[in-house]
Amino acid sequence: MADLTTNLAGIKSPNPFWLASAPPTNSGYQVMKAFDEGWGGAVWKTLGVPVVNVSSRYGSVNYRDKRMVGFNNIELITDRPLKDNLREIEEVKKYFPNNAVVASLMVETKEQWHQIVKDVQNAGADGIELNFGCPHGMCERGMGSAVGQEPAVLQTIVEWVMEVAKVPVIVKLTPNITDITEPALAAVKGKADAISLINTIQSLIGVDIDNFVPYPIVDGKSTNGGYCGPAVKPIALNMLKNCAQAPGMNLPISGIGGIENWRDTVEYMLLGATNVQICTAVMHFGFGIIRDLTSGLERYMDEKGFKTTAEMVGKALPNVKTWENLNLKYKVTASIDKDKCVECQLCYTACEDGAHQAIGLPKDGSRVPYIIEDNCVGCNLCSLVCPVEDCITMERRDDGKEHETWKEWMTEDKAPTTFDDDRAGGKHHWVPKPTDALKH
Ligand SMILES: Cc1cc2nc3c(=O)[nH]c(=O)nc-3n(C[C@H](O)[C@H](O)[C@H](O)COP(=O)(O)O)c2cc1C
Repeated sequence: MADLTTNLAGIKSPNPFWLASAPPTNSGYQVMKAFDEGWGGAVWKTLGVPVVNVSSRYGSVNYRDKRMVGFNNIELITDRPLKDNLREIEEVKKYFPNNAVVASLMVETKEQWHQIVKDVQNAGADGIELNFGCPHGMCERGMGSAVGQEPAVLQTIVEWVMEVAKVPVIVKLTPNITDITEPALAAVKGKADAISLINTIQSLIGVDIDNFVPYPIVDGKSTNGGYCGPAVKPIALNMLKNCAQAPGMNLPISGIGGIENWRDTVEYMLLGATNVQICTAVMHFGFGIIRDLTSGLERYMDEKGFKTTAEMVGKALPNVKTWENLNLKYKVTASIDKDKCVECQLCYTACEDGAHQAIGLPKDGSRVPYIIEDNCVGCNLCSLVCPVEDCITMERRDDGKEHETWKEWMTEDKAPTTFDDDRAGGKHHWVPKPTDALKH
């Protein structure tokens, strides 16, 4: 049976699933309930000088029958007194000594950082996460993402924290930056023990078009908030990959953003995350999702022969290249399974208007489309719009013997240098329908 335990920079956990710092970790009651149900760790709702939160706070993007595909909040850090949180951290550690309790922190001055780090260590926290990511409210006061966007400031604060830290320190990064590897490497320079990413993406979730005010509405007004949930996973995965591949990045990574199921978790780990943190999925479906998360991950690891979670970490990274290193000779085209086709012709419409006019409709009155091989560039669009699983598949057409990348072209001086220079001789090119095809 696969061993699900993880060790992030010395913080041990019975499994890789941690609750991210957010409402599900607002109190000892919730964290204990989550541990009872099987969660491995929890990053406490960010502690600091308590704030007053507003009402309402959340908004969401719903798509067709799926609710909360994207989730937005304008909530700040904890609004509960520090002493209550510290007492509850101590209680949780007493009842659950083997689960990871990490205190998320956000304050302003060096003295405040020193004091709060000592406070949470005294309460028994197994680790500390520095919240340099919150993109609303706190950043306007010089904290949260305002720090994450300034690598030099971030490094200074990490150094303050490391002066008194006795437990591992995780730096939580903001995605609201052009190149996330810059603050990640500042965390390395500051001698942090790990990084975590992503916090939420600055956003406006939508507008009430009757009353002319964006959501969520606070007494007729609104403000920008932080975006998370399944919609942000691709952005987070790319940032994770960038950090994991960055030269000089030698810290373990805790992956966060849009994780809902075991498969998402595996994707994060294959791209370099030692463990994962989850918020929106728990706010949507509750702590009970942990049962599917652990059993799914266990099954996957057994099937693939992974004995420990560490064996999976970064397995997909060697296969992520820059575009110029992709094989230009690799060729796939679409293939339609006539028996599975439901004759909706969505593939035809998408390809005809939105891609390469590589799908035709039979003239004999039957409704199953066919592929025009010569026009098909293998873009995948038809298989993506097709509502039937595995009805349209992409089949390899090249013989697998040739390999040429754009980088090789460039170094061998073969690549076109002017707009009319066609050294590929047209043979790799898609030839559109003539513009007079619509003339009557
Ligand atoms: C309502 C809400 C409150 C949050 N509060 C915090 C917080 O106090 N500290 C923090 O570091 N992140 C906070 N986050 C961000 C989450 O920890 C997490 O980074 C983000 O939601 C992405 O994960 P997800 O897609 O699983 O939700 C909050 C997120 C939400 C939705």
